[in-house]
Amino acid sequence: MANRPQAGYEVAPWELRWGWLDLDALRRTESTFALSNGHIGFRGSFEEGEPRGLPGTYLNGFYERRPLPYAEAGYGDPVDGQSLVNVTDGKIIRLLVEDEPVDMRYGSAPHHERVLDFRSGTLRRNTEWISPTGRHVRITSERLVSFTQRAIAAIHYEVEPLDGQAQLVVQSELLANEPIERESDDPRVAAVLEGALVSDFSMGEGSRAVLGHHTRRSGLRMAVAMDHEVDAPAGVSTENWTEGDLARLTIAAEVPQGRKLALTKYLAYGWSSQRSPQALRAQVEAALAGVRQSGWQGLLDEQRAYLDEFWDAADVEIDGDAELQQAVRFALFHVLQAGARGESRAIPAKGLTGPGYDGHAFWDSETFVLPVLTYTVPDAAREALRWRHSTLDKARTRAAQLGQAGAAFAWRTINGDECSGYWPAGTAAFHINADVADATARYLAATDDKDFEAECGLELLVDAARLWTSLGHHDAHGRFRIDGVTGPDEYTAIVDNNTYTNLMAQKNLREAASRCEQSPDLAREFGVDEEETAYWRDAADRMVVPFDETVGVHPQSESFTQHAPWDFASTPPEHYPMLLHYPYFELYRKQVIKQADLVLAMWLRGDAFTPEQKARNVAYYEALTVRDSSLSAGVQAVLNAEVGHLELAYDYFAEAALADLYDIHHNVAQGLHIASLAGAWIAAVAGFGGMRDHDGKLTFAPRLPPELSSIDIRVCFHDSRICVTIQRDEATYELRRGNDVHTSHHGQPITLTQDKPITLPIPPPPQNPAPRQPAGRAPAHRRPSPVPGQELRPIGLVPEQ
Ligand code: BGC
Repeated sequence: MANRPQAGYEVAPWELRWGWLDLDALRRTESTFALSNGHIGFRGSFEEGEPRGLPGTYLNGFYERRPLPYAEAGYGDPVDGQSLVNVTDGKIIRLLVEDEPVDMRYGSAPHHERVLDFRSGTLRRNTEWISPTGRHVRITSERLVSFTQRAIAAIHYEVEPLDGQAQLVVQSELLANEPIERESDDPRVAAVLEGALVSDFSMGEGSRAVLGHHTRRSGLRMAVAMDHEVDAPAGVSTENWTEGDLARLTIAAEVPQGRKLALTKYLAYGWSSQRSPQALRAQVEAALAGVRQSGWQGLLDEQRAYLDEFWDAADVEIDGDAELQQAVRFALFHVLQAGARGESRAIPAKGLTGPGYDGHAFWDSETFVLPVLTYTVPDAAREALRWRHSTLDKARTRAAQLGQAGAAFAWRTINGDECSGYWPAGTAAFHINADVADATARYLAATDDKDFEAECGLELLVDAARLWTSLGHHDAHGRFRIDGVTGPDEYTAIVDNNTYTNLMAQKNLREAASRCEQSPDLAREFGVDEEETAYWRDAADRMVVPFDETVGVHPQSESFTQHAPWDFASTPPEHYPMLLHYPYFELYRKQVIKQADLVLAMWLRGDAFTPEQKARNVAYYEALTVRDSSLSAGVQAVLNAEVGHLELAYDYFAEAALADLYDIHHNVAQGLHIASLAGAWIAAVAGFGGMRDHDGKLTFAPRLPPELSSIDIRVCFHDSRICVTIQRDEATYELRRGNDVHTSHHGQPITLTQDKPITLPIPPPPQNPAPRQPAGRAPAHRRPSPVPGQELRPIGLVPEQ
């Protein structure tokens, strides 16, 4: 075998290939090789069930309630937590070769390869295994979670004896209540989640079986059905066995050398909080009947067609760094998987790739994932917003509980109820409400979707706007302040006038006012009158935007720039992430930043800053930001690109895109960092493409980092598709589909038509002194090897020597 690349994956433009049998890496590769359509999630575990890292099969929104223990509870603290349940595992296909179970811990594997293919949307495996007694077989499998048939997953599995005839026994299973490790070490939580599923029914007949279960506390029901097509030499015997938590189809065959035992396993999943076990059973059986009509090849064809369309709309092509090209497509593929078919469900921070963060969704979805989906798969963005809207009643109840008007959306949740047990880095992060409004406004501007505006969009804007009117107040000078809130940076909490929050609230108030003024009848349905919109406008106009005249920068929040500086020189590398090594009170009262906050404001509200302010702010905040959150690098790439630090922006781009492949945060085993992966697109499109969408207008200001020869980005806007090719000295805009688009290139208005592409020169970048990062926290300086995939420099939080 060739030398193993540093991250372990072989570099290829359209796939993630792992050619090693490394059982220690199982947990992390189960995450990177996860398949999902946003509704069903399968971690990338081996078919034979063991060895395994952290097995996981998830249904979006299917959770168990669990205790949320406090040492000292306070008023308004949520009492219930929610945890994503590891549901019935349908991936399992065990294999015995002449009585010996195939288990990669034993015997040897002269060849073992797994490939996640971004165009076919499948995970392939090709293993040659020699049993401890010397029997030699080849196992190939291909599995998918269907983008086109939302309830369906399928596995095509083949075994071939390589050293003469062999008796093969295959056991295809549905297995509920697999014992797994939990993130929480609280025994009360573990007790609730162990054996979370209670059997409702089990049925097996012929090649089919169905299992139904419910959760003990959250009252949710699920069902999963399997069916099989078997292709084997004559003399096959099959046996179907089911009991509460297990359904097993056993297939035994004598298979001569040169022949194969082939099996296609179809799986249909469904869950509901309302439907009866009988109705759920009927639902999954119907889905199975549908997929049996399509067949395996039909499923493959549909999957490919869906992805061809996706890549046509969304691809980012990079010339000059093969590994980064792979990483960006990996990132886009997983962002798609997280959101494609969620359909009125949340997009969790880990997608459906692992149990991290208990499967909760945060602001990650609106601020990081939805910008990507809005400009690539707008329907998926709409559905995620529809989910947020479905939680509006809970958000209103929460706001009322907190003595506030409007809605207070949950900081972390599965079903819309607040699950954050730590106020300062939880509910106090009220900016999530402005983030929801921002994502709504962006979606409406990018699609002009009037139906969504009437059904959900306007109401989201209105209820979020109302929150600010009660959370903020006019001070003695008539200025509108928002006090006692936490901004995106969780190392600074409960502050007055967090600049990000205020600017995003300002935008929310203005958007709500102007959309209500445009649709007065609709606005009246929500009880909005002219007096209310006038108040919103006034609050927005008088919003406090702190500025420190002495230092010449925007403080992240009032008085932030007066806090004591953190002593980075004396902070050893092993003390990161800092939240695990320092008390919060110390982090809170010093100048140290976990993740982009003011810098994020300069992207999303870039219209509120001058170019000079941006350059000074970037320099100031670069020196304080430690990136203990994976949400930071992509955003830092955007602003560094804008102020002319293109090499640094490229390093951050690489960090965002490669974070999970290199496991730089050391927790990819618990699931992928979907917002960081979205950050890779954000770095490419908003960073090097310079794309902005202030006031609903799409503009570009492209610039290439010195290391690359070109970047092609694609975006969807109002049913049109645009491609921008960024080269060293010029950029070319092409309208690939749809109506003319009015945009601009570095401030110069242009109209894109289908007649011919427009090529324009790129002005030289602004010259600003290179910023510095806290000691030891600079991103790895990325220098790709001239030979793709070889001698790559380590990526991670390593300073340049
Ligand atoms: C970040 C939050 C983020 C959460 C989930 C935390 O570490 O500070 O901003 O929402 O992770 O990704």
